[in-house]
Amino acid sequence: MKFFFLIPSSTIRTSTLKKVKSVVGGQERADVFSRILLNLYRWKDRCDAKSVVVLYLSHPEENLTFTIPLDLISSPIENELEATKFMINLLNSPDELGITLEKQDFSSLLRNLAADCNLFYLTSTGRDISKLDEDSIKSNNFCFILGSQVDLTDAQEKDLSKYDPTLISVGDREYLASHVVSIINHYLFTKFQ
Ligand SMILES: C[S@@+](CC[C@H](N)C(=O)[O-])C[C@H]1O[C@@H](n2cnc3c(N)ncnc32)[C@H](O)[C@@H]1O
Repeated sequence: MKFFFLIPSSTIRTSTLKKVKSVVGGQERADVFSRILLNLYRWKDRCDAKSVVVLYLSHPEENLTFTIPLDLISSPIENELEATKFMINLLNSPDELGITLEKQDFSSLLRNLAADCNLFYLTSTGRDISKLDEDSIKSNNFCFILGSQVDLTDAQEKDLSKYDPTLISVGDREYLASHVVSIINHYLFTKFQ
């Protein structure tokens, strides 16, 4: 079984030079993604399922998918600095990390994921994650889709709705994406440890 986490970003670009300061304080908000990665990495050895992070750069000049199986990461990501450095390497030289890159639009990416996984869309108005039917969750790979610093666009939500995703919530309030992935993992850990 695999858990996919799909997070689109319209602001992260591959064309700009990345340094630690430009990731941490930069307008592209690549730091949002490096924090998500750090939090997911912390959970990777705690349950049997394999986690795969899918970063989608939705800027029209990018349309680029980075597929990152956490098991493939050879140097540990244990703090913000290591996560930031990983992010810089990922965007500057993904080949050196053995990360797969694909040029595709969002709807093709969703079609590929839907062929392999049950899709879950994270939104505060969704169904409480703890109320999900355990058996349906254990029967397949599944993919959690969430916004990074902002929600998915209307067009992305429209594409996603074609696959009839399950809408799930981790609470009434809006949380940071990096917190949401920790809460999802806490839930998965209690079900799959
Ligand atoms: C930082 S939030 C986006 C914040 C805000 N809605 C906006 O667009 O500025 C990032 C993502 O985390 C997910 N999220 C945040 N709070 C959530 C909650 N309580 N339940 C489920 N998902 C949540 C949503 O997918 C959201 O797009």
